[in-house]
Amino acid sequence: MKETYSAAPSPTGRLETRHRSEEEPPTADTVFTLRDGSVAVIRDLTAEDKSSLNEIMDHLSPDSVYMRFLTAKVRLSSKELAYFTEIDQKHHVALLASIRQDNHLVPVGVARYIQNTPAGDEAEVAFTIEDNYQNLGIGTLLLKKLTQLAFQAGIKTFTALVLPENRKMLNLFGNSHLAMTRTTNSAGALEIKLTICDQTA
Ligand SMILES: CC(C)(COP(=O)(O)OP(=O)(O)OC[C@H]1O[C@@H](n2cnc3c(N)ncnc32)[C@H](O)[C@@H]1OP(=O)(O)O)[C@@H](O)C(=O)NCCC(=O)NCCS
Repeated sequence: MKETYSAAPSPTGRLETRHRSEEEPPTADTVFTLRDGSVAVIRDLTAEDKSSLNEIMDHLSPDSVYMRFLTAKVRLSSKELAYFTEIDQKHHVALLASIRQDNHLVPVGVARYIQNTPAGDEAEVAFTIEDNYQNLGIGTLLLKKLTQLAFQAGIKTFTALVLPENRKMLNLFGNSHLAMTRTTNSAGALEIKLTICDQTA
């Protein structure tokens, strides 16, 4: 895939230099129109997406970073970048969401699940959507897609560690129609469990 760099206006009107990937013809089931009319493309994350992941991190507010990593992280280390991108798309599944701008795709969000039991029936799920692109439905789309993949893979339960003040994440899970339980751990974070069911409808 050929990569280009160019300046583009963000949804807030801010001019940003964004690392972009030249668009490949996407298949029909990966293209979505968001609530503001913009077009999102979702595809598997690959080892070639390290710069995209760095870019998404660079555009996260400190609050969003804290909600995702439960710590004030600034950059991913090269070891973390490898861990998050050099994946098998079986036990560790990750999807990249990009927004179409002109003839390019700008990466704006990522979601993943990582199986966390030897039996492979449970996986931890996590989401990172750039602040400028939150509330457009991207997180909802990514959860639905991950749920479909998990269902096909025989995963029964998604787990997630969520701060109690993370209303957006809790609402997203709550709106997913997946049965949800929550318990508070000793550090005060919520341990969420979602029961996977068929989401193809
Ligand atoms: C939490 C997070 C993943 C949510 O992603 P998102 O893309 O903003 O989520 P969505 O846009 O799908 O949903 C957000 C809201 O938009 C609403 N929405 C989405 N699509 C809609 C549509 N087409 N029409 C109307 N409303 C819509 C949802 O109902 C939801 O509203 P609510 O919060 O009032 O219930 C995102 O805010 C994020 O990355 N936060 C920082 C990192 C983080 O917290 N990660 C979680 C740790 S696991």
